[in-house]
Amino acid sequence: MIDTHTHINMIEGLTTNEIIQNAKENGVEKIIVPAANPKDFSAIIELINKYDNIYGMLGVHPSDAKDWDDSLIDKIKKLAENKKIVAIGEIGLDYYWDKSFNDLQKEIFIKQVKLANELNLPIDVHDREAHKDTFDILKEYNKGSKVVMHCFSGSVEFAKECIKEGWYLGIGGVVTFKNAIKMKEVVQNVPLERILLETDAPYLTPVPFRGTENQPAYVKFVAEEIAKLRGIDLYNVIKVTELATQEVFDI
Ligand code: NI
Repeated sequence: MIDTHTHINMIEGLTTNEIIQNAKENGVEKIIVPAANPKDFSAIIELINKYDNIYGMLGVHPSDAKDWDDSLIDKIKKLAENKKIVAIGEIGLDYYWDKSFNDLQKEIFIKQVKLANELNLPIDVHDREAHKDTFDILKEYNKGSKVVMHCFSGSVEFAKECIKEGWYLGIGGVVTFKNAIKMKEVVQNVPLERILLETDAPYLTPVPFRGTENQPAYVKFVAEEIAKLRGIDLYNVIKVTELATQEVFDI
């Protein structure tokens, strides 16, 4: 399996070696670490240079849009010369935490979409309670980058709209929550070839470890839940989502 979105630089209870070891023991061969803030960049570069099976993304999270400045464009271009930088992310819109700078969020999102296009890298999208604006910006500004709606949280209808655009859905631990009815429906109603597995660790820990710190090894619970919901073999889920992941990130 590949954990396509995991902030291992934010996990507090385990060392990187322990994280990798646990992942391997649970069939997780590769992991991709997104950036949220420019402060994460050096940690990510260090990780991808040190560990064969770790890949990175660079970008500024919408909640950190105030930390953006235009000199980051050249900085990201330079750092992305490293072939293990496989996407721009996580970028997008978040109207859940703080609505006071939506316009700034949009502006920074658009700049980073254009940067991804220029670098010919996929876009890993954070969309929280901002489905319409996120969709509209991607539709208007994205010219050719593959798109992953990370930690997808929309309805079946919105999922289908995203699929129609050729985008992929990142599915994480939330799908294992008993009350995540909408999420379970989404997983049952989109093509498996468009689903990517992720943990978003250290957040959103799947059942049965909900309430503790998340880690890439737990992506197997996400895969198991998807298999159960679709009534198919776990092996099938792993194989198909892995192919989709390779299609997007070329790893
Ligand atoms: Ni994340």
